[in-house]
Amino acid sequence: MIGIGCDHGGLELKKTVIEYLNKNNIEYKDFGTYTADSVDYPVYAKAVAKAVAKGECKKGILICGTGIGISIAANKVKGIRAALCHDVASARLTRLHNDSNILCMGGRIIGPEHALAVVDAWLNTDFSGDERHIRRINMIEED
Ligand code: RB5
Repeated sequence: MIGIGCDHGGLELKKTVIEYLNKNNIEYKDFGTYTADSVDYPVYAKAVAKAVAKGECKKGILICGTGIGISIAANKVKGIRAALCHDVASARLTRLHNDSNILCMGGRIIGPEHALAVVDAWLNTDFSGDERHIRRINMIEED
């Protein structure tokens, strides 16, 4: 189950991503927002991030205007590794190296076709499981 959320700046791209998820029979839970009215991105960031942290959703996708605010907010939730990616190479590498559990994008930054290539790469790349990457990921949670 993928948790997906956005603010008003990410609404159109979220619709495009949901079409992709439907087309590929990927289960998802849409945490909003559902209209173009101006909203506060931390609300959606935290809702999706908490669902991922609790294991209710395996991964999450968050979209705001730039992807920046929503990724900063998501990364405040313990256990979340939210990666802001606007290219396929970063999407692959953040799965391989960081085992990122949330993908963030900016709806005002990336076009729909490119965004779907990023989503596809991110969803279809497994964590490498390399010892050095596990060690570094564990260090992220240390005080
Ligand atoms: C909302 O106008 C905009 O600030 C938001 O979508 C996002 O880009 C914040 O980082």
